[in-house]
Amino acid sequence: MDTIILTKYDVAEIVNRVGLHQLMDDIIDELRRTFRNFDDDLTQVRKRDGFSYLTPFPGVLEWMPVMQVDDFAVIKVVSYNPANPVLYQMPTIISTLSLYNIRNGHLMALTDGTFATALRTGAASALASEVLANPNSETVGLVGCGAQAVTQLHALSRLFDIKRVLAYDIDNSVLASFPERCRFLDLDIQIVPRQELEEESDIICTATSVGLDAGPVIDGKNLKSWVHINAVGSDLPGKIELPLQLLNESLVCPDYRVQAVIEGECQQLSANAIGPELIDIMKHAPEYKSYQMKKTVFDSTGFALEDKAAMQVLLALAKEVGVGRSVPVESIEIDPMDPYSFARAHIGNEQTQIVSVV
Ligand SMILES: NC(=O)c1ccc[n+]([C@@H]2O[C@H](COP(=O)([O-])OP(=O)(O)OC[C@H]3O[C@@H](n4cnc5c(N)ncnc54)[C@H](O)[C@@H]3O)[C@@H](O)[C@H]2O)c1
Repeated sequence: MDTIILTKYDVAEIVNRVGLHQLMDDIIDELRRTFRNFDDDLTQVRKRDGFSYLTPFPGVLEWMPVMQVDDFAVIKVVSYNPANPVLYQMPTIISTLSLYNIRNGHLMALTDGTFATALRTGAASALASEVLANPNSETVGLVGCGAQAVTQLHALSRLFDIKRVLAYDIDNSVLASFPERCRFLDLDIQIVPRQELEEESDIICTATSVGLDAGPVIDGKNLKSWVHINAVGSDLPGKIELPLQLLNESLVCPDYRVQAVIEGECQQLSANAIGPELIDIMKHAPEYKSYQMKKTVFDSTGFALEDKAAMQVLLALAKEVGVGRSVPVESIEIDPMDPYSFARAHIGNEQTQIVSVV
């Protein structure tokens, strides 16, 4: 009845043993399988909920649940604090993933979710692009070059033969470090004005921390007629990245409709202007082939099914590589009717370690 804990060192060991490309491929494959085989009688997804706050700095703390019926549940806790990089040298998105046995409630595993979120968000965009983008896409434009932009580009590079990457961010220091952060991809990355990016990209990913009511982040007037856009950053009520006119000209596919109408680009659309969900286009990909030469938008808000897939990949690789530790977190297994029994059973336990609590 222990809990498997994967620390950042364990995840780093997985990356170093498996390799970043293989890991991204594994996540893409697992997500593709998850979407194609999705059956809502077997897997129950809930839209996220949480707290949003304006002090001490604007941000949100949210929980994202998914349950495999009769089996397990994964709950991701994720925070969005866009002041983090400048104030604390911490990522904007910080997250942890928990796995529960739903037969008895036992916490089976706890892992980092920050890396998993970045991986699965990139993988989801790559899969939407696989169905909706021109398969000969060679030029990728990135609007917003923070953490998510790295995995957007990485995942796309696994499915498309990218010849040129056009990068734009309102923060010059972020832009300046982007080529170095993506050096492992060995791609031609050019920092360009946003207008040039819009005109020349076959696929655009918007992954910005644009403020509430401060969007859109692109003009959308001079785009290629077959452009596919992965709109990743719009994930709060009032936060949008794309102009309404562009959405009206495009097939807009949300990842998870009930969530996207509250916090995605779909907030801007009436119900009949919203296209099929990601799961639908993945299950019936050939039917959407004609859209590859039209304007399309993947409205990515990020949903719990993706987190389940990413956590499963990490746990399976941890087992294969032999990392992770088993820790008795919960006060269970002594006398189920006596909530104090575990303490009596472990008086003076040499396992106890006093650590400073902040
Ligand atoms: N859809 C999903 O599944 C998913 C998952 C993770 C994060 N996100 C969202 O993606 C966004 C980016 O996350 P991140 O971790 O990369 O954040 P980040 O802070 O690392 O990077 C965001 C970048 O956007 C830039 N930016 C802000 N406004 C801009 C504008 N108008 N034009 C161009 N650039 C602009 C910032 O300068 C910053 O460099 C966030 O909004 C986050 O909530 C979505």
